[in-house]
Amino acid sequence: MGPRAAPLLPLLLALLGRTDPGRAEGCDLQPVTAEPPITLSYATSTVPRGCVSSSSLSTSHEVHVLSVEWSKVPALPLKVLVTPRAGGCTRSAVLILLCSYCSATITSPCPDLLVHTDAHLSSGSTVTKSPKPPVATGERQLLAWVEDNYGGITSYSELRDPRSVQLRLGEDAGNPPDCIPQKHFNATQHLETEVFFHGVKGCAHGDAQSTRAAHIIHLQHDPSSPVTEVNLSLSCPKGVITNQILILQSRTNLTWSLSFNNCDIQFLVSGNYTIAAIAPRLLPGELLPDTERGLIAKAFEKNYSVIASYSTIPASARISLEIQKHEVVRRTSETPTPPAPTADPLPYALLFMLQPWKCTDETMEIVIDRSHLEPIKDVVNITLRDLSCQAEKNATHFMLKTPLSHCGTLLEGRGHANNELILSQAKGAALRSVRVAFQCKIPRELFLRLFPTAAFEVPQTELEVNKEAFVQASMRWEDHPADLQLKECWLVAPGREPELLVQGGEARGEGVAVMEGPPSTRGRKVWRFRFTYAVPEGGRVPFSATLKCKAGLQNNTIFEKVLEVTVKDSWRPPNTRGLGLAAVLGITFGAFLIGALLTAGLWYIYSHTRPISKLQPVSSTAPASESSSTNHSIGSTQSTPCSTSSMA
Ligand SMILES: *[C@@H]1O[C@H](CO)[C@@H](O)[C@H](O)[C@H]1NC(C)=O
Ligand SMILES: *[C@@H]1O[C@H](CO)[C@@H](O)[C@H](O)[C@H]1NC(C)=O
Ligand SMILES: *[C@@H]1O[C@H](CO)[C@@H](O)[C@H](O)[C@H]1NC(C)=O
Ligand SMILES: *[C@@H]1O[C@H](CO)[C@@H](O)[C@H](O)[C@H]1NC(C)=O
Ligand SMILES: *[C@@H]1O[C@H](CO)[C@@H](O)[C@H](O)[C@H]1NC(C)=O
Repeated sequence: MGPRAAPLLPLLLALLGRTDPGRAEGCDLQPVTAEPPITLSYATSTVPRGCVSSSSLSTSHEVHVLSVEWSKVPALPLKVLVTPRAGGCTRSAVLILLCSYCSATITSPCPDLLVHTDAHLSSGSTVTKSPKPPVATGERQLLAWVEDNYGGITSYSELRDPRSVQLRLGEDAGNPPDCIPQKHFNATQHLETEVFFHGVKGCAHGDAQSTRAAHIIHLQHDPSSPVTEVNLSLSCPKGVITNQILILQSRTNLTWSLSFNNCDIQFLVSGNYTIAAIAPRLLPGELLPDTERGLIAKAFEKNYSVIASYSTIPASARISLEIQKHEVVRRTSETPTPPAPTADPLPYALLFMLQPWKCTDETMEIVIDRSHLEPIKDVVNITLRDLSCQAEKNATHFMLKTPLSHCGTLLEGRGHANNELILSQAKGAALRSVRVAFQCKIPRELFLRLFPTAAFEVPQTELEVNKEAFVQASMRWEDHPADLQLKECWLVAPGREPELLVQGGEARGEGVAVMEGPPSTRGRKVWRFRFTYAVPEGGRVPFSATLKCKAGLQNNTIFEKVLEVTVKDSWRPPNTRGLGLAAVLGITFGAFLIGALLTAGLWYIYSHTRPISKLQPVSSTAPASESSSTNHSIGSTQSTPCSTSSMA
């Protein structure tokens, strides 16, 4: 046990010789919510609410409704398996899965299964989505929608925290005529689900420094339960020396069948048990107390002074228990090392749902609403693979913007940029990190950017009249970048003839000059030119204008992009923000007549109703399709990205 056992000794001496439940004194079980030391799930066919009916027998489809509720963001996609009735996939079936903010893998051997779901379908799904179900505000509306659309409901089940669901198709004429949801509904007929248990409790005895920890599972005694055998599979983190005990309590005439994956653990079992790895020989268990305090006292008696987890669950035929690595207390004084990859699925699943990354052909931008990160506790810092690329944060968001050439970004996949998000969590004094690798799609579209100087550094959306401006058009075309050409660029402003700036790679307008762009690398082609937006003195200056460019391939596939810019006239007072001088004078003159208060009101209204579209970041338009029709044009509207100081 080493020197660490020393503080434990007085405690143990005090405990010695006492076997009554009084030993549980000093250990108040508390819910473990922050970072449960285990992941526990169990199979059940009892749903919080549900019903079945024969109302679909006379309609064209059998219809099953699953409505999922979460008490915690799920770690992995929900697995839904829809199995055919005994005779095969003979009747059309509909699955309605309500599972907002969730990702699901739905598989079924029945090819014609119609699926209405608001879940994100993850890869591996073998079904395709039909239109989304309504955003139901309640059970009643949902069921009414199903009735209206399909004329009947075969089954309805509300599920809480499911890990997987197996839905068996089939209808039963013996079911009641209407589906009227009931509490604690027994859905054995058509459904089995494995649900996560989130009610884990724990405690440590006094100031116990011990790493000897107990995990206790207490199966509720339910005389009506048909379960006589429990299969429990236990898995433990790799390469960790555990000093733990598993205590399994159930009614005595129940048989446990245990399978261990990677676990070196002590155990105490009530009733008889078998161990999968060692032949099916039935081993006698021991009589265990069947109260909470009795079981805790038992753990203490065996010198396990930390109750790492205590779970009370219904009798179930299959239980899966994973002991998590972070539960094991490490007391070596490690120097901070780069974070190791983590297998914790929660951050991974969460970030994949949020997809907070957005790429252009030149930049990667990450914006994460901090409230979305709540399920991953205490994230203090976010960086990319290159730890020096740290996200800026304000009260509500983490933000990071970087060129694709920086921060360890790799352009390996076609049309994708790869990097990792590293989330640092404050854990007391220590920092813990999770690493999530991601791929950011680079849209296959033409990008337009306007710059104030020939350095082409920080793009802007303001075009100053009678001053030189610099335009860059660029695009990735991995296949044959050489095929791609800048066909033409126009400047379009209200009240003026459109001005042709560049055509076929040559300068056209007055004061336009084509500049040499950087060489194409990795399939990215860049064109540059400069021009001056000339307005004769006294000429009318529009508030805004658009730059419109087309690039294309030999075969007439055209990519078009429009960049909206505001026009700045240095003659215009700077704080009028777009109100022409004449308008300002007009308003001032009006003030004499109407009164200064009203003018203030006009100003207020004006400044609060101006369209704000120009402040929006790059729109993520759908990537250009490669349809085979000739001379089709792929257009989208864009504003240059608001550049931030982290652009380095
Ligand atoms: C439990 O596991 C054994 C062996 O893996 C298997 O034969 C048995 O059918 C399982 N029982 C249940 C209820 O899943
Ligand atoms: C508990 O630890 C004490 C002191 O190390 C030891 O004397 C005692 O035998 C242990 N009891 C069990 C059940 O291991
Ligand atoms: C965030 O990370 C940086 C660099 O790794 C580190 O210097 C800084 O102390 C971290 N901030 C916090 C609040 O942990
Ligand atoms: C934080 O930054 C984000 C992104 O730039 C912005 O949308 C948000 O309003 C900012 N929040 C605060 C409180 O400044
Ligand atoms: C034009 O050529 C590209 C490849 O260079 C191809 O992907 C695209 O489908 C072609 N379009 C037409 C209309 O032929």
